[in-house]
Amino acid sequence: MNRRRFLRHSALAVAPLILTDFSLFGADAPSKRLNLALIGTWGRAHAFFDSLARENVVALCDVNEEHIAFALEKCPGARTYIDWRRLLDDHRALALDGVVICTPDHTHAFIATWAMNRGLHVYCEKPIANTVEEARMVRSTYLNNKARLATQTGTQRHALPNFNRVSELIRDGAIGRLKTVSTWGNRQLRRPGYLPAEGTPPAHFHHDLWLGPAPFHPYNPAYYSGTPGNNCLNWNMYWDFGNGQVGDMGSHTMDLAWKAIDATLPTAAEAKGEPFNPEVSPVELEMRFEHPANAWRGPISVSWFQGGAMPASPRPYVDLNKIDHGALFKGDKGFLIADFTGRLLIPFGDKADLTYYERRTPETVLPNLGDFVGQWFDACKGVGRTACDFEYAGNLIEQMLLGLVAYRAGARVEYDPVAGRVTNLPDANALLGRTYREGWVLNG
Ligand SMILES: NC(=O)c1ccc[n+]([C@@H]2O[C@H](COP(=O)([O-])OP(=O)(O)OC[C@H]3O[C@@H](n4cnc5c(N)ncnc54)[C@H](O)[C@@H]3O)[C@@H](O)[C@H]2O)c1
Repeated sequence: MNRRRFLRHSALAVAPLILTDFSLFGADAPSKRLNLALIGTWGRAHAFFDSLARENVVALCDVNEEHIAFALEKCPGARTYIDWRRLLDDHRALALDGVVICTPDHTHAFIATWAMNRGLHVYCEKPIANTVEEARMVRSTYLNNKARLATQTGTQRHALPNFNRVSELIRDGAIGRLKTVSTWGNRQLRRPGYLPAEGTPPAHFHHDLWLGPAPFHPYNPAYYSGTPGNNCLNWNMYWDFGNGQVGDMGSHTMDLAWKAIDATLPTAAEAKGEPFNPEVSPVELEMRFEHPANAWRGPISVSWFQGGAMPASPRPYVDLNKIDHGALFKGDKGFLIADFTGRLLIPFGDKADLTYYERRTPETVLPNLGDFVGQWFDACKGVGRTACDFEYAGNLIEQMLLGLVAYRAGARVEYDPVAGRVTNLPDANALLGRTYREGWVLNG
């Protein structure tokens, strides 16, 4: 057993003694500041600077040198890079402990896998993958290193107390036996197709590195003209860069359900939506997944609706369209409707008197998760675990991306979750991954 695991195990048994011991061991001491690199230093990165100030940001990487200059003002003294591969080459010289990844989606699985392969802790923005194969690579790399690495996915809404309340109601049986779950998002970004060549990249912007593993597309400033934290909306509808709302709000909204249903991977998926466009991911889409039973519930059906497609309302007086991003759980004794911050319980039927359901007390409600980024810092230092590690988030996004495979195949796909193969439609297996530009390797 390595020292960190020994301390973790021992801490459970004799906490006061071990807390003293922690301060003696520099490498594992919770008081030690982490040496971190921020990859993607503008946009979503704005959300991290306050938290990162508690640790050491020793390196910054961005393909836009103006964005590096912006971050350097907040993290003076950090070494700077335009190519994340060169940064990772230097991880020993930088004494790096971990990386925070805020780059566009098509780079996430690459950077995360490469970083974990070098023994680095990873916080990665959602979605952590763009294909089923990428999701499986990120998850398996994490699982192979789980004893020594902490990972967290950027689904920070997971820390909202309502996620716990919804989870408690479902697992405690407030709607009886869970049967189906529907989640939805109403964001609609219509795009005609990849943008035509326009102008030349400015000297401070490295267009080729921005493309990274994606197939070549000519420079067009409109991909990069968004406000901080919203620029993803300028590229995430294009298949080579993102997966539209499946990876965007789908990551957050399915998380609300995922925490409650305690699922692993589906055994089948089907989908329908607007006609397939080889350049742009669909706006209107409906996907359904079959999940096997687990220890506390039977088999369930889980769905995702987007871009105008919506689940049927449980009652005529409830207008689900008034909830932009939400989840509807149906049990054999009631419905639960939730958004990120609130919930509505609708018992139904003569037997739905709630006597079968035992309310929690102030002592037994799940504790607030608290500081989501701080939870990752702590886990990097060997204290506690993260809520959205790459096993949890890898399963969630693999399911969503399998739905896109069913959509593209135009048929129900049966899935072997252990092998990661479609079993009833061999041709659909070609849709589980994608081809990268020459010179780019996922598992590097
Ligand atoms: N968790 C959330 O609530 C939330 C909110 C917004 C965005 N996001 C996610 O954050 C990510 C970034 O979104 P954004 O709107 O900030 O995008 P963005 O287009 O603004 O890119 C962010 C930064 O990454 C840089 N960059 C691009 N390619 C790079 C590369 N290969 N190496 C290093 N730097 C690179 C850009 O120059 C930019 O500074 C997306 O994956 C998005 O899904 C999450």
